[in-house]
Amino acid sequence: MSTFQAPKGTYDLIPPDSAKYLAVREAISAPLKNSGYGYIETPGFEDVALFARGVGESTDIVSKEMYAFETKGGDKLALRPEGTASVLRAALEANLHKAGNLPVKLWYSGSYYRYERPQKGRYRHFSQVGAEAIGTEDPALDAELIILADQAYRSLGLRQFRILLNSLGDKECRPVYREALQTFLRDLDLDEETRRRIEINPLRVLDDKRPDVQKQLTGAPMLRDFLCDGCKAYHEEVRDLLTAAGVVYEDDEKLVRGLDYYTRTTFEFVHDGLGSQSAVGGGGRYDGLSEMIGGPALPSVGWALGVDRTVLALEAEGIEVDVPATTSVYAVPLGDEARRVLFGLVTELRKAGVATDFAFGGRGLKGAMKSANRSGARFTIVAGERDLAEGAVQLKDMESGEQEPVALDALVATVRARLA
Ligand code: HAM
Repeated sequence: MSTFQAPKGTYDLIPPDSAKYLAVREAISAPLKNSGYGYIETPGFEDVALFARGVGESTDIVSKEMYAFETKGGDKLALRPEGTASVLRAALEANLHKAGNLPVKLWYSGSYYRYERPQKGRYRHFSQVGAEAIGTEDPALDAELIILADQAYRSLGLRQFRILLNSLGDKECRPVYREALQTFLRDLDLDEETRRRIEINPLRVLDDKRPDVQKQLTGAPMLRDFLCDGCKAYHEEVRDLLTAAGVVYEDDEKLVRGLDYYTRTTFEFVHDGLGSQSAVGGGGRYDGLSEMIGGPALPSVGWALGVDRTVLALEAEGIEVDVPATTSVYAVPLGDEARRVLFGLVTELRKAGVATDFAFGGRGLKGAMKSANRSGARFTIVAGERDLAEGAVQLKDMESGEQEPVALDALVATVRARLA
């Protein structure tokens, strides 16, 4: 019988590499936990209409990439392609916004699913750590989130990333711009699909990577020139706060995100060592999303950073994440009696907080010592009948190679003292 493989566009996280993913999730979430964000977890699937309405029918994410299905009970669901709509849905459902404590600040970490054409850095199952600050319109909140993401990347040692910043305007000024842009685009020489896009999502046309399209786009009206006074002032303040915090960013007036819910502040973190899938994270303000999914007006802002791409970025910069050896002590019993005694000691050491492993399977000394070496343990405890008769075990320092007997009842204290 043939064996199974991970589905196309997916991969498994296996040791030792998986430790890097844990370290990245930890590094991204640490600044959030430190800034008043509470942890939220939502289901891996939702009503398909939540994403259709929230992320937008015309986006690639909803129209082409969503894993949508009907259950045996007739519910129309979709595997979540992103986290923002779900988190806002959950906050509304739990009435978090009514507790009189705005903004509601939440962070999350999990798996997301998009039926995309797989390539390096682009997967059908990927992982994000994200943050959403719900219910407050305040440029300091936008700045806070960008500063925290910057801090997260820097704490990992990343340097070759850039922050692209833009404002997409609001429900007053964007429609005016949209129409001006459409009028301009309709006069260009473009293919059928792009013509359709002009009518549905004209801002995305600006994002077209083809040189012949880009050439025709010179002279296109720019949103910057259409921003209303409110949006302009808001954006200026976000920029000033970032500058005051020492965060370097680039104004990118062409930055359009792949989700429809954005208003005003939008940003992307790009890494220069990743080739075409260079966006390691992105986000922005979504003042209208709550109303789009049936809630009250709740201006909000957030981001999500891609864990898979952040790991690739670390590799591109040659950064070794500090992953401490997981095992401190490895126990090797010689014989049945030693097996019982050492297994008891292993449990005691673990209870005392010492990371300990055991040579399972009754292997000989040579094989067991090989495993001890591989585990990265600082100490090995070895015991045979003779040691036990003397009420002791041999404690071997794997770095110096020195070995000495330690009394059974002194072992835990001795090991802890040596490791300290
Ligand atoms: P997004 O830009 O679609 O935004 O995704 C955020 C990050 O997830 C990307 O920058 C990328 O690193 C990673 N990512 C997305 N798709 C893939 C994929 N197929 N394979 C690997 N990594 C991927 C959002 O999802 C918004 N919900 C962010 C947000 C939160 N906006 C406001 N709040």
